Amino acid sequence: MKRPIAHIAGTGRYAPAQVLTNQDWEARLDTSDQWIRDRSGIAERRVADDRETIAYMASEASKPALAEAGLTPADVDAIVLATASWDRLLPSQACDVQAVLGAKNAAAFDVGAACSGFLYATNVAEGLIATAQAETVLVIGAERLTRIMDWEDRSTAILFGDGVGVAVLRPAPGDGRGILSTYMKSDGTLGDLLYRPGGGTVAPPSEQLLADRSQYIRMAGREVFKSAVRSMADACDHALQRAGLSGDDVDLLIPHQANIRIIEATAKHASIPMSKVYVNVDRYGNTSAASIPIALDEGIREGRITAGMMILLVAFGGGFTWASAAVRW
Ligand code: ACO
Repeated sequence: MKRPIAHIAGTGRYAPAQVLTNQDWEARLDTSDQWIRDRSGIAERRVADDRETIAYMASEASKPALAEAGLTPADVDAIVLATASWDRLLPSQACDVQAVLGAKNAAAFDVGAACSGFLYATNVAEGLIATAQAETVLVIGAERLTRIMDWEDRSTAILFGDGVGVAVLRPAPGDGRGILSTYMKSDGTLGDLLYRPGGGTVAPPSEQLLADRSQYIRMAGREVFKSAVRSMADACDHALQRAGLSGDDVDLLIPHQANIRIIEATAKHASIPMSKVYVNVDRYGNTSAASIPIALDEGIREGRITAGMMILLVAFGGGFTWASAAVRW
């Protein structure tokens, strides 16, 4: 087991006030509350309004995270932001957050790894701290998926929601607390199972693109589901093994919140009872890169995460990508 290099010194989250329930979807699409609950575990999700850009939401979520760490925006050395639903394609989303937050001394850039993005960004932030490039890194998972999903496609629209979670990474205090292990993996050959076909340089905006609705997320749900179960299990195994731990040592598993059935399968694989699993997919749906840091912040505010606990974070997403981290809190 390595000595922790970095630890999480503060967290924050932003959830838009507007709630979209399964009953709201029943009124719009050929679906039912029962189907959505049974297949995904989702009851409601949040929807950002026009004012709630990612730059705005991420800036709002960063303020309490920095305050908890006893820092100000001027103290931030780097912003590493994970998203799949940028406010705009250029410049990076992280630079727009930097401007709104006023983190004038920071380097800022994005990480693209879909739902695994927050854990990928955490890995990058840990590396910046390890190489003394930075002492304070804002790691942000931020999504406004309701703007890139197809509101007429019942097989995807009912899954997604908006929100932001933030963690402030700092050098580990040296008392054993911090990030004990990390793991990242990808399989780009499966990219077309979960993707946005249009809008990039290969298929730039055109009338045809809009007619095909190919600016929106497309997903082969059943195939993604199977890979997610397999990959989340692999991610659990690697983070635990690298930290010299087993499922019995885990006090709280915080999995990516995509589907309650994937979460249950992951917990079962790692021999972690559901009483030690954080679940909020029912209230937020799938917020992709934001789901783990939102859950982390909620867990702390609710008192479910306390000093000394062993936390296992596990994610899977488009790419395909998967990742994990074991953290001594
Ligand atoms: N309401 C009612 N019926 C529906 C709906 C709906 N909203 N959506 C699909 N159906 C129908 C389908 O048409 C299909 O009907 P058929 O059997 O007559 O063809 C039937 O329900 C079953 O569809 P499946 O897609 O096979 O349903 P499944 O049990 O796989 O559940 C789901 C679908 C919830 C999408 C699941 O596959 C899933 O969660 N997949 C993984 C998603 C995921 O984890 N994504 C993570 C990454 S996301 C990211 O990176 C941004």
